Amino acid sequence: MSNLNHSFPYLGYGIGLRSDHYQHILDHEVEMDWFEIISENYMDSKGWPKKVILEIAERYPLVMHGVSMSIGSSDPIDLDYLKKLKKLAKEINARWISDHLCWTGILGKNTHDLLPLPLTEESLNHVVQRIKMVQDILERQLVLENPSSYMQFREDSFTEYDFIRQMAEESDCRLLLDINNVYVSSFNHHYDAKEYIAALPKERIVQFHLAGHNNQGTHIIDTHDDHVIKEVWELYQHTIAQTGPISTLLEWDSNIPAFEVLRKEVLKAKTIFDKGVLPEEEKTKRPEKSISNNLHLNQTLWEA
Ligand SMILES: [Fe+2]
Repeated sequence: MSNLNHSFPYLGYGIGLRSDHYQHILDHEVEMDWFEIISENYMDSKGWPKKVILEIAERYPLVMHGVSMSIGSSDPIDLDYLKKLKKLAKEINARWISDHLCWTGILGKNTHDLLPLPLTEESLNHVVQRIKMVQDILERQLVLENPSSYMQFREDSFTEYDFIRQMAEESDCRLLLDINNVYVSSFNHHYDAKEYIAALPKERIVQFHLAGHNNQGTHIIDTHDDHVIKEVWELYQHTIAQTGPISTLLEWDSNIPAFEVLRKEVLKAKTIFDKGVLPEEEKTKRPEKSISNNLHLNQTLWEA
């Protein structure tokens, strides 16, 4: 494999670009350092969405985030998909291309879900070989994100963080650390989020994701439809104290609020990094776990 190392510039604080905000961004000099696009929304587009991102790419750095590479699948790598991905990256001068450590389909069918892999030696070797192939074709290092998950396999012989560390070292890829996903999975599978983060190779992390979720009391669904919770901000604070500045992005995918709400939310991350403390409004929030405990308690009392 040729040397694919390229620079991953620090971009500051950004949000996921969603069509709800196209016009606002086109019409204003918005205060935002960068945007992340969902690659698949533009790969086959020749109309308005493509025109919009070409224009936005002239004014702001863009990063591509995909949901269909299916790096963990046993289907052959989709060469046509990679060709389109590479073409789009060139057109918009994407600073990097990311996707998820998952599989999304089999036998040519896309489930549009980010499905978890068994964490075994066999799947590690499989994923590493595929990442190397993708990187050779894209002629750049791939960035892979830790998934949020709701199940684990009996066959697992690695922790997720050991799997990711070995995957990154053996394939020479980079990492997108979704801090909300670490929180969600650690809640769902009862492990320590800080232990997970401590074990990751920090020098390979080029981007953070932050997002809101839905806590059902017994488990968390990663919904990206609300504000980031206090515990995730605390985990972000804990992580950046170890990594230093890393390009940080807020994901908000349904019940999408006004642009200004997103701008204020992602700027909380800047406050946390600059001042080393949570913003005042976050400090006074009730812990999420006690809210869910209370709900559970109330439900139990009601049932009794
Ligand atoms: Fe994410």
